[in-house]
Amino acid sequence: MKIKNLIGAILVAALGLGGGIAIADGSVKALREMSVDSTNIVDEIHKQDTRRFVRNYRQQPPLIPHSIDQHQIDLRTNECLACHDWTNAGDRGAPTLSMTHYLDREGEQLDRVAGTRWFCNQCHVPQVNAPALVNNEFTPSN
Ligand code: HEC
Ligand code: HEC
Repeated sequence: MKIKNLIGAILVAALGLGGGIAIADGSVKALREMSVDSTNIVDEIHKQDTRRFVRNYRQQPPLIPHSIDQHQIDLRTNECLACHDWTNAGDRGAPTLSMTHYLDREGEQLDRVAGTRWFCNQCHVPQVNAPALVNNEFTPSN
């Protein structure tokens, strides 16, 4: 046996032994404070909420009521537009981008979505029905 393999074999054996003892002992915990051999249960409450939320103030970018994991946005591609651009929204039954998304910096009307609105998730985030992390006393102005 080559020396490298031998060291490897000893390491594997030592680790296996150490791990075995620690688990039996019950002293090793996973990050979520469960023992390492039980299934992690993730809080249900943080799942995507698919009902549209009311906006908390008039100019709020509405929260996204669907998953965005599959929708790529990069320099060339923006899959959100396949449903939300004014050219597609009717067919897709999706809400059309409002006119503010077609104004450039000088306030000129464009046919295509403005560069400043290209990266949708800069402003829009998927919604979850989760408890507030900190108390919030925000009230919108009238
Ligand atoms: C396959 C089509 C499709 C794609 C792709 C898509 N959406 Fe949607 N989106 C919808 C539909 C349909 C609704 C309306 C859902 C409803 O009314 O319950 C919606 C709703 C929304 C809303 C809520 C608007 C409001 O007024 O409440 C936002 C914001 C949104 N989408 C953003 C995005 C973003 C950002 C992406 C890309 C990451 C994206 N969508 C990709 C179909 C799509
Ligand atoms: C710079 C921030 C910003 C970016 C980037 C942005 N939005 Fe918005 N969006 C808003 C705001 C603010 C509103 C609500 C006020 C308004 O309509 O202008 C809104 C409204 C919407 C609405 C609702 C329109 C309506 O009339 O109910 C949809 C749908 C939407 N955005 C989708 C998108 C998609 C898809 C993208 C990416 C192509 C995008 N937004 C990029 C800020 C942004």
